[in-house]
Amino acid sequence: MNVAAGQRIDIAFPQWFTPYWQPARYKIAHGGRGSGKSWQFARALIVLSLQKKIRILCARELQNSIQESVHHLIADQIDVMGLAAMFSVREKSIQSVTGAEFLFKGVRGMKNNAAQLKSLEGVDICWIEEGQTISRASLETLTPTIRKPGSEIWITFNPDQEDDPVYRLAMNPPPGSIVRQVNWYDNPWFPPDLDQERRWLQQTDPNAYAHVWEGRCRQYTDAQVLHGKWRIGSFTPEPDWHGPYFGADWGFARDPTVLVKVWIADNQLYVEQEAWGIGVEIDRLPALFDKLAGARNHVIRADNSRPETISYLKRQGFRIQGAAKWTGSIEDGIGFLRGFDVITIHPRCRHAAEEARLYSYKVDALTGDILPRIEDRHNHVWDAVRYALEPLIRKRQGHEGVSLAWL
Ligand SMILES: Nc1ncnc2c1ncn2[C@@H]1O[C@H](COP(=O)(O)OP(=O)(O)OP(=O)(O)O)[C@@H](O)[C@H]1O
Ligand SMILES: [Mg+2]
Repeated sequence: MNVAAGQRIDIAFPQWFTPYWQPARYKIAHGGRGSGKSWQFARALIVLSLQKKIRILCARELQNSIQESVHHLIADQIDVMGLAAMFSVREKSIQSVTGAEFLFKGVRGMKNNAAQLKSLEGVDICWIEEGQTISRASLETLTPTIRKPGSEIWITFNPDQEDDPVYRLAMNPPPGSIVRQVNWYDNPWFPPDLDQERRWLQQTDPNAYAHVWEGRCRQYTDAQVLHGKWRIGSFTPEPDWHGPYFGADWGFARDPTVLVKVWIADNQLYVEQEAWGIGVEIDRLPALFDKLAGARNHVIRADNSRPETISYLKRQGFRIQGAAKWTGSIEDGIGFLRGFDVITIHPRCRHAAEEARLYSYKVDALTGDILPRIEDRHNHVWDAVRYALEPLIRKRQGHEGVSLAWL
């Protein structure tokens, strides 16, 4: 569909969004996954950019490349809404027929860059997406810089920790701010595949569910198994990187089945792609695995508890084998993962990122102390990563592992 000049189009917005059309200095929407925050803010900005020549800054804490910004989201929404003829989507900016412009910038370090700050003076609306990642310093740089009369600061975020600057702002906003919590049940277009994930987490871990789907802050962040080791960032594998290494974890009953693709370079681990499906039947596995480029050309190391699944996939043309397990192989694997300087998770690997947040040590219910035992959940992606790296982990630990000759 493409809209012709003079044609009237109707664009649907959910009911919760109505107040956001009024002017306000701060417009904040926070809540759990799939509530429609990103789509509504992107769509509203697109609509406004067709009404008036405005400058819109899409800001985030770090933006190493344009792929990390909402550029892609906005360009997609322009297409979905049938408005492509009214925009020119450039590599690093987007312009509408009114002359309105979308800019995309990372804010960290901007304070010391006078030219960058100057370029923001004419901004009418600043949208901070994934606001939970913005630092206090960046928020303090941004707020006085967006100073054109009538200018607005829009923020969308999934609450993470109670002392995150945007969470404090949302809980204690200046008068006149528009702040709403929105969750999946506020989204009339909540997709069925997300609903399946939602129900699964509701059944398996109510605490994590409250965080991921109901938009509550996360508890016990220090208990994270990968605490301080991981970050989200886009990258393109270089020719001299080691890998790719593929690892698979099987879902039992309604658990997820996972395939991951990782690389190693300069003592850093890169998680490039993931396939993730709940309750996937065996005959659907090849299609799930084929979502990852190169899955049929490289060795896949998999949880060895399902020899029949492994042999089925072999017959389907995959180079797949069971990964060895030994006493302490989980702890050795975690030690190996923590031995990397940094683990970079590509933004498209949403489950890897979510499990990096949720995969935890047990916490004593009475004292809140972190215990030396690992919770057996939110480990699907990271188990798959351990399997992918099993030969390296085994070499490092000097273990022989069990023989898997029958596979
Ligand atoms: N206006 C709309 N029209 C049609 N579908 C929509 C609309 N808004 C949201 N959706 C559907 O709901 C899904 C979730 O929306 P969105 O990605 O905006 O949620 P979110 O709150 O940003 O989620 P997350 O917390 O995961 O970032 C979209 O992928 C889309 O399928
Ligand atoms: Mg979003």
